[in-house]
Amino acid sequence: MAVSGKTKVYGIIACPVEHSMSPLMQNFFAAEAGADLTYVPFRVEPEDLEDALRGLCALNVQGVNVTVPHKQRVIPYLSEIDDTAASIGAVNTLVRTDEGFKGFNTDAEGFLTAIRARGTDPAGLDCILIGAGGAARAAAFVLAREGANKIICLNRTLSRAERLMDDIGARFPDVEREALPLDAWPEIGGNGYLAVQTTSVGMTPDIGSSPIEDERFFEKLSFAMDVIYTPARTRFLKFAEDAGVPTCNGLDMLICQGMAAFSLWNPGLTLPAGAFDGARDIVTKFLEEGA
Ligand code: ATR
Repeated sequence: MAVSGKTKVYGIIACPVEHSMSPLMQNFFAAEAGADLTYVPFRVEPEDLEDALRGLCALNVQGVNVTVPHKQRVIPYLSEIDDTAASIGAVNTLVRTDEGFKGFNTDAEGFLTAIRARGTDPAGLDCILIGAGGAARAAAFVLAREGANKIICLNRTLSRAERLMDDIGARFPDVEREALPLDAWPEIGGNGYLAVQTTSVGMTPDIGSSPIEDERFFEKLSFAMDVIYTPARTRFLKFAEDAGVPTCNGLDMLICQGMAAFSLWNPGLTLPAGAFDGARDIVTKFLEEGA
């Protein structure tokens, strides 16, 4: 699509930004939906974040995605923040308003859409969350909000798991919660768990690792999600597949968070049915070429 004087500008702020797949994905969505917009990468150093946001606002940039290392640091510079993003404490999508930028967290919605599309729903389920960082926080919030029965957080550093479960309890007191050190997973009884892997263990180049390497863990699961998307099929997901457990990978979540951001920016436009598969092909090809 040709850029004219009327074309709206969107982008992503990150550091580094060179490996981001969002420009490819969002410009594809724009073409699919017939939107007159362009989406560009902005490399913003941490110390320049405030200036960058002022500049983006002054330049009438209509929306931006925010990623590492700015997802939490951006919050003080917003004119408004959506409830979900405020509860999670991280923002990945900004929408231009008359007052400034309003912050949202579409990682959370992307996570939910992705697992639902693969046939599972957190309502009433017992869940195991592996990790207690930013990604775990977004997943825990969604699981609790969507009516999970119980969340067990396993983390290498127990105190972080405890803090996350306390924060979830303050907001969702009805959800049963437990925090355990990662290696205490054999203490978990029962089965049928929805498991969400949110640590960086297994991410390229560490593809030979999984935070849990014992097949008995995977026999306890009814569904396994990994938020990592490089590689798309992590060792954690391979263990799950070998145990016959349905899975969802981080690429699905990445695409779903991008679609959710596109919808926030273009409330009047609908993405066609093939947009998800088209975006999946584009990012898969990008990853294969980069490998
Ligand atoms: P993100 O925002 O991507 O979730 P983060 O906040 O740095 O990133 O969190 C990373 C998560 O991966 C944490 O749960 C971390 O465990 P600790 O809290 O103990 O640091 C987990 N993690 C990273 N490397 C790990 C490893 N080698 N083994 C186990 N857990 C690991």
